[in-house]
Amino acid sequence: MKIWIINGPNINLLGTREPDVYGHETMESINRQIQTYLTDHGHLYDFFQSNSEGALIDKIQEALNEQVDGIVINPAAYTHYSYAIHDALKSVSIPTVEVHLSAIHSREAFRKDSVIAPACIGQVSGFGSASYLLGVQALELHLSKENA
Ligand code: DQA
Repeated sequence: MKIWIINGPNINLLGTREPDVYGHETMESINRQIQTYLTDHGHLYDFFQSNSEGALIDKIQEALNEQVDGIVINPAAYTHYSYAIHDALKSVSIPTVEVHLSAIHSREAFRKDSVIAPACIGQVSGFGSASYLLGVQALELHLSKENA
């Protein structure tokens, strides 16, 4: 399978960014763990992070041309208001899992709503860096059923 991991704004600052909320692991360290898992399970992959909405949308559109099987995305703050990222995911129609390190439903009121979730097959939230691996595993399960 070809699986892309996409991260939105400020995820590049993990490790130093509000460690009480997001933990001490860097994005690079989290990506290395996911990369090991994806390699061990025979998947092709790509990692992408941007602080810009347009760049994230371009990457999602590129996934269609590259015949990507599934996406794991942490849209970060765009989760809560980017209808453009929602539309991009709907447009490419690639199975996508939304992930969050923090438990967005237990935080400030503005974080409870995800405008991205309706364009995704599911959401993993609140397990720290493990949310990504759980997201990848949920995607694998979904894709294996889809291809059965
Ligand atoms: C986040 C949660 C968002 O509300 C926040 O804006 C982020 C990170 C998370 O992974 O917990 O940047 O997506």
